[in-house]
Amino acid sequence: MAQDLKAENPQDVGLPPLDPIRAGEPLLSVRDLKVRFKTDDGILKAVDGVSYDVYPNEVVGIVGESGSGKSVSSLAIMGLLPKSAEVTGEIVFRGQDLLHMDEKDRRKLRGGRLAMVFQDALAALNPVFTVGDQIAEAIAAHQPKMGKQAKRKLTMDLLDLVGIPNPSARVDQYPHEFSGGMRQRAMIAMSIANEPDVLIADEPTTALDVTIQAQVLEVLERIQDRTNSAIVLITHDLGVVAGVADRVVVMYAGRPVETSVVDEIFYHPRHPYTIGLMASLPRLDAAGARTERLYRIKGQPPSLIFLPSGCPFHPRCEFAELPAPCSTIRPDLELVDHTYGRHMAACHRRHDMADVNPDELHADAGAELEAVEDAAVITPAEAKAMEQLSVPTEEQE
Ligand SMILES: Nc1ncnc2c1ncn2[C@@H]1O[C@H](COP(=O)(O)OP(=O)(O)OP(=O)(O)O)[C@@H](O)[C@H]1O
Ligand code: SF4
Ligand SMILES: [Mg+2]
Repeated sequence: MAQDLKAENPQDVGLPPLDPIRAGEPLLSVRDLKVRFKTDDGILKAVDGVSYDVYPNEVVGIVGESGSGKSVSSLAIMGLLPKSAEVTGEIVFRGQDLLHMDEKDRRKLRGGRLAMVFQDALAALNPVFTVGDQIAEAIAAHQPKMGKQAKRKLTMDLLDLVGIPNPSARVDQYPHEFSGGMRQRAMIAMSIANEPDVLIADEPTTALDVTIQAQVLEVLERIQDRTNSAIVLITHDLGVVAGVADRVVVMYAGRPVETSVVDEIFYHPRHPYTIGLMASLPRLDAAGARTERLYRIKGQPPSLIFLPSGCPFHPRCEFAELPAPCSTIRPDLELVDHTYGRHMAACHRRHDMADVNPDELHADAGAELEAVEDAAVITPAEAKAMEQLSVPTEEQE
C-alpha cells in the first residue's frame, strides 16, 4: 500500500478536501495545458499542450529558451494569469481540479500548499514594507491564529534557513537594503513560510552571480530536505538542472519536446534541440580546466503567433529531413526506443538521434574549444553537468 508522507496540518482547515500525499502518486498532474492570448496580430499560443507530473520530494526541471512558455505555464498552475488568457487542459493538485475550482478555494491553496518564487524578486517585494513584515503577512494569510511573537520567530527562522546572516537585524530592513541574492532568498523564505507541498521556483538563480546562484540552489535543496516539498525548477540553464533536478521537461515554443529522468536527458538526449543545448554547455578539459563551448543553436525562437509548419524547430534544426516529414508533419511527444525513465521526445528522427554525440555536433560546426582562464567560476551545478558529460558513454550504459 502507498505510504502517506505528510500528516495534515492545522492550517489546512477550510481547504477543499485534498487527497493524502502518498509516495508513488503525483501531487500535481498537468495534462494538455494550453494558454492562448488574443493579440492584434492574431492568437499567441504561449503554452500549447504541456503535460507533466510532479511526485512527492522530487525536483522537476523545466528548461527552455526565453519565450518558450515556462513562466506562463507556471502562472496558469497558480491561477495568476490575467483574465485575457484563455487556459484549457487539466491541472490536478492532490485530487482537486484547479481549473474548475472556486477562486476563493484557489486563493486558499496559493501561498499555502502551492507556492511560487517569482522570476523578478525585486518587483515581487513591496518597497514600503520591511522584509520581515512581508514574510509575516504571508504566514498570517494561511495561519491567522498564530501570535505576533510566534510569527516573528518563524520569520527569523526562515531567514536563517535561507542563509540570511543576522536575521534578528535583517528582519526589520526594507527590500532596498538587501542585495539581489538576499532579496531572492527572502522571496524563497516567503514562499516556503507555510511549508508548501509544491514549490514552483521561476528562474531563482538568473541575474545572480555564480557564487550566489550556488547558494540559492543549496537553499532549495535544504528546504526540500526540511519540508518534503516537491520543487518545479524553471530555468534556461541546463547546468542548473543537472545539479538539482530528478526529472526534466525541455520546452520549445510552448511545447515539451523532450522529457525523462535527468541522467537520460544528459546521457541519451534524443531531440536535436536538447542536443544543441548540451553542445552549448561548458566542459572540463583533460587538465580539469573549464572550456567554453562555442556551439550555438542557429537562428532565433519562432513567433508563437506564426509558428513554422510541421516541427516548429525545423528552421533551426541541423538534422531536419526537408520538406517531409519535418516541415510538413508536427511530431508528437512519443516514447523513444527504450522506455527507461519514460523517455519521450517530439521528433520524427528521435530513434536516429541515438547515434549523435553533442561533442560531434560541436566539431561539425567547425568551432574550437577554448580554455577559459578563470576556471574558478564554475557553479556546483555546472560542475555536476561537466562531470556527467565527461564520463565516456560506455560506462553509463
Ligand atoms: N499577458 C500576456 N499577453 C500576451 N502575451 C504574453 C503575456 N504573457 C506572456 N506572453 C507571451 O507568452 C510567451 C511565453 O512567455 P513566458 O513568459 O512564459 O516565457 P519564458 O519561457 O518564461 O521566458 P523567459 O525565459 O524569458 O522568462 C511569450 O511570447 C510572451 O511574450
Ligand atoms: S522533427 Fe525533424 S526538424 Fe524537428 S527536431 Fe526532429 S529532426 Fe529536427
Ligand atoms: Mg519566464
